[in-house]
Amino acid sequence: MVMALKSQVQVKQAEIEIDIQGLSKIYKTKKNTFQALDNVSLHVKNEEFVSILGPSGCGKSTILRILAGLEDATSGIVKVGGQEVAGPSAERGMVFQSYTLFPWLTVQENIEFGLKLKGMKAKQRKEISDKYLELVGLERFANSFGKELSGGMKQRVAIARSLANNPEVLLMDEPFGALDAQTKQSMQHLLLDIWKKEKTTIVFITHDIDESLFLSQRIYVMEARPGRITEEIDADLNLFKDGELADVDKFMKVKKHIISLLKH
Ligand SMILES: Nc1ncnc2c1ncn2[C@@H]1O[C@H](COP(=O)(O)OP(=O)(O)OP(=O)(O)O)[C@@H](O)[C@H]1O
Ligand SMILES: [Mg+2]
Repeated sequence: MVMALKSQVQVKQAEIEIDIQGLSKIYKTKKNTFQALDNVSLHVKNEEFVSILGPSGCGKSTILRILAGLEDATSGIVKVGGQEVAGPSAERGMVFQSYTLFPWLTVQENIEFGLKLKGMKAKQRKEISDKYLELVGLERFANSFGKELSGGMKQRVAIARSLANNPEVLLMDEPFGALDAQTKQSMQHLLLDIWKKEKTTIVFITHDIDESLFLSQRIYVMEARPGRITEEIDADLNLFKDGELADVDKFMKVKKHIISLLKH
């Protein structure tokens, strides 16, 4: 029984790649049309941690919502694991910028929500929620409600809730954007630890250059009106070691380059 659970929790399905080609999104309102995304192409490899970085309104959330299947593309191809995205799926876990815990459920019930929907028995659900409560360091808060938690704790529950469903891909939309600097930093370290342990493919949205360089292996930089990708940056440059900045010169060089891209 325990063995079966372990394999269910730990074994990921086939290699998951994300492939977006020629993605455009036009929003039509009563009065006019607005091109939010213009010919966006990007690729995320299995188990890769990729950031999408760009100014407000450049279409970052739009890309993520389309990847999550919450919104349709106007044109282009969006594939996850070789399959065209046709709607939401538990295989693509989403963590939003705003806090999205169900207020009437405890922390543990929030984490088990998707598992309960799937019809999983209480004992098995608890084994999984215990694992993820421990992973995000909230064992003592299993029976608390969202309103009793700080912003950082709420986001830790949101991450645990997504991971509990054993998603192939974690889609994160500025999850630490509303946190103070110190909490943000500890959440970034926690996320890297989780990523190393869980080997989940992550697409992470941010407008924080330091955050994207610290967390990701590659960064897609975007510009706005219309939303386009301007450059793909290799961020796997040993800039950090053991969570500390290790190569200040190289870090500043890459950062300056990204700043110049964002100025355009
Ligand atoms: N439902 C909608 N109807 C019309 N326009 C929309 C809609 N959703 C988004 N947009 C427009 O599309 C553009 C991209 O929006 P999006 O939310 O993807 O930007 P973003 O890069 O995530 O910005 P931020 O960093 O502020 O979150 C914006 O100009 C926005 O006004
Ligand atoms: Mg957004």
